[in-house]
Amino acid sequence: MDEHGKHDRHGDRHGHADRHAGHGPSTPVHQRGAHGHGQPGHGHHNGAYRNPEDLDAYVKRQLDPARAEWQKPDRVLRTLGLRRGAVVADIGAGAGFWVLKLARAVGREGHVYAVEPEPQLIAVLRERLTTARMSNVSPVLGRDDDPMLPAGVCDVVLIVNTYHHFPDGPAFLRKVARLLRRGGAIVNIDFAKRETPVGPPVEHRVAREDFLRDARRAGLRLVAEHDFLPHQYFLVLKPSRVR
Ligand SMILES: C[S@@+](CC[C@H](N)C(=O)[O-])C[C@H]1O[C@@H](n2cnc3c(N)ncnc32)[C@H](O)[C@@H]1O
Repeated sequence: MDEHGKHDRHGDRHGHADRHAGHGPSTPVHQRGAHGHGQPGHGHHNGAYRNPEDLDAYVKRQLDPARAEWQKPDRVLRTLGLRRGAVVADIGAGAGFWVLKLARAVGREGHVYAVEPEPQLIAVLRERLTTARMSNVSPVLGRDDDPMLPAGVCDVVLIVNTYHHFPDGPAFLRKVARLLRRGGAIVNIDFAKRETPVGPPVEHRVAREDFLRDARRAGLRLVAEHDFLPHQYFLVLKPSRVR
């Protein structure tokens, strides 16, 4: 069975099939499947929330130390300039690649809401938080169409490699915008819509321009963009109208 043979049952707003989620290091380009975008290392994407079925392998990819080479988490965090005491939401937190780093950045006086709709991933995250003795993180079981957080609490909402999982991007973004405190920002980092050595199949990705169009529809404007990530765009948005 080819990598994408089963996707059609998950058609979405972009007119493409089930969007892939396994974004850790993938099989080298020369070993890819017959379609050129196939990434056999990622498994099928027929699980809940547009995730692959094999969640163990998915977690492994998300947390693979080699990811740092292209994901550059330290530089991303420096660029975000999080202050101690800040409140951050990580939407689509997965196994928590960002969560522990964010929690350290905001310190004990800050807080991280780790929003994830997949209970099995929340369980993995909880275990990691216990091992790391982190007490400033709240794992939150989100809904597919709602992050399930109170309004007006976040200084920063981080969304990494997750936007293409939302069933209705602009609607979800509108809900995310409500989470911001005055002056708060949404950060979206996601794979460029072109072949890259890691990341989901190209047809599952949301192009930067399409994301920005969705963001405008959701009442958000681009306030900064960073181009040091080799495979992903890195956008910072704020509400168009100051509340
Ligand atoms: C590719 S993973 C990214 C995980 C993490 N952000 C990272 O960078 O390692 C995408 C995550 O989004 C989650 N997800 C899927 N649908 C979602 C939704 N509607 N709201 C929030 N998260 C969602 C998936 O369960 C998965 O954990």
